[in-house]
Order: sequence, then structure tokens, then C-alpha cells
Amino acid sequence: MPVSRSTGLAKNVFDFSGTTTVITGGASGIGFSCAAAIAKAGGNLVISASRRPDKTQKALDALKALNSTIQVQAFPCEVGQEESVKSFFSAIEQAGLTTDYLIHSAGISPNTDFYDQNQQEWDMVHNTNNTGAFLVTKYAALLMKKNPVNGDFRGRIVLVTSTNGINSWDPVSAHYDASKAGNNIFVRVAAEKLSEDQICINGLAPGWINTDLNATLPPDVREKESAKIWMKRWAEPEEMAVCALHLLTMPYLMGQVVMADGGYR
Ligand SMILES: NC(=O)c1ccc[n+]([C@@H]2O[C@H](COP(=O)([O-])OP(=O)(O)OC[C@H]3O[C@@H](n4cnc5c(N)ncnc54)[C@H](OP(=O)(O)O)[C@@H]3O)[C@@H](O)[C@H]2O)c1
Repeated sequence: MPVSRSTGLAKNVFDFSGTTTVITGGASGIGFSCAAAIAKAGGNLVISASRRPDKTQKALDALKALNSTIQVQAFPCEVGQEESVKSFFSAIEQAGLTTDYLIHSAGISPNTDFYDQNQQEWDMVHNTNNTGAFLVTKYAALLMKKNPVNGDFRGRIVLVTSTNGINSWDPVSAHYDASKAGNNIFVRVAAEKLSEDQICINGLAPGWINTDLNATLPPDVREKESAKIWMKRWAEPEEMAVCALHLLTMPYLMGQVVMADGGYR
């Protein structure tokens, strides 16, 4: 029997009731799809607010419509700025919510000709993607450390990285690819430290996903890339959400980066 794209997804194997998941970048793309999947699985949610208030409100309304029994909140968080990240997690604690799970999805990916990339752009990409991953992980872990042990863990983290940080992609994204390589090795080194406090961290490295991040990719590049994917199609963000929820709940997985790219060469 042919398996359609939607029937390929598990119905709802997850139960997040009684827990809170914090999702950076939760107002759009992969982050929003992860939030929607958690809402359907009965979990409370905190998303980092989009810099666009209308986008934040739209996401909050959509998540509440999915499940009226859960708590859904948004607080501001500029992931590359320590004071902002600290305030974000303080706001979560002050709201009386625990941080049981974290999905860190916030990131940027400008495509710029290699010789037109300058220090300002490199600093911006690395500040958001690399420093952001460190700061969000650190402050989430400081809260998770206070949780009682549940099974093996007090808290579980998935960082959304990228296959670009493993295979590299193209010189137009030299800064992005390098930042995502940093994310991938950070998963490994953070796992060694966080495991001392019964906190689990793994990485999800997506390939090509249909989100706003790729909205400006020229059609010829899109076509060329599609031809390299063994599954012959891009993924939808909802599929990355299923992968992320699996990674948040898989037993005995620690410090791994899993590529979800449909097969690619
Ligand atoms: N789409 C893909 O093909 C693909 C492939 C591999 C990896 N990824 C990774 O997946 C993650 C999510 O990307 P996406 O595809 O879902 O793109 P997206 O829809 O553009 O989402 C990115 C999110 O990150 C937030 N963000 C950006 N800079 C931030 C900052 N400094 N502080 C706080 N939030 C910030 C954005 O918030 P605003 O609304 O405020 O801009 C937005 O919510 C990224 O880490 C990306 O590198 C994506």
C-alpha cells in the first residue's frame, strides 16, 4: 500500500502531560511545529517571543487552539545576549513553571557571497547560532538541575543544529556552516558536563526543510538540492517535530547528533 507523506507520521505516541517544554524560536518554522506537537501531546509550553509581536500572538493563539487544557506562554529572549537569556529563564521560574524539556531552535542563516561576508555578519551568525546555543543550554540546565530525577534524568535538551555543520553546504553559508559545526561539537562536550547533573542533551541536524529560513532560496538552487535528496523531497517542519520529540524521549541516547536529511549526497 502506498504510504503518503502524512500517513508516514506516527499518530501520537508521545505523552508530555504534567511537564513543561521550553522552545526557542517557537513562533515559527521547526520550533513552532515542535510546540504544536508538544501541545497535542498534552505538555505545557514556553516559547521565546518572536521579535515581531503579531507573529508571537498568532503562534500563541494557534497553540492554545490545539489544546485548551495546557499553559502556553511567551517571554522575550534574545538568544545571543546573556542578560536576555537569563531573564527569559527567570521569567519561566517566576511563572511557577519547571523547565523539563528544552528544544533550542532559534537560529539565522543568511546566504551571502563568500567575499561579501564581513566580520559584522560572521559575528552576528556566530553570536546567534553558537553563543545562543551555549547561553540557552546553560540557563536551561541551571533550572533543570533543580528538578527531581525522573527515570534517568532531571531534564532533556534537543539542540536543532544542521547537516551543514557536518557535510558543509556552500561558501555562501560559510559562517552558518561553521556555526552549526560548532553546535554539533557543543552537543558532545555539553553532554559530558550535563550528564553529571542527570541532564540529557542531543542534537537534531535537519537537511532541507520547508520553512521561512529558505524562503529566498532561488528556484534553480532549490531544484538542484532536491535532486541530491535520496527521498526526492524536502521535509515539512512537522516531520522535524516528530524527530525532535523522539530525541527528547529516547532512552540511553546522550551527546549524539542525528541527521534527518532524507538521505543526501
Ligand atoms: N529550514 C531548514 O532547512 C533548516 C535546516 C537545518 C537546520 N535548520 C535550523 O533550524 C532552526 C530553526 O529554523 P527554521 O527553519 O525553523 O527557521 P525560521 O522559521 O526562520 O525560525 C527561526 C527562529 O529563530 C528565531 N531567532 C532568530 N534569531 C534569534 C535571536 N537572536 N534571538 C531569538 N530568536 C531568534 C526567529 O525569531 P524571529 O521571529 O524573531 O525572527 C525564528 O523564530 C535554526 O537553528 C536553523 O538553523 C533549519
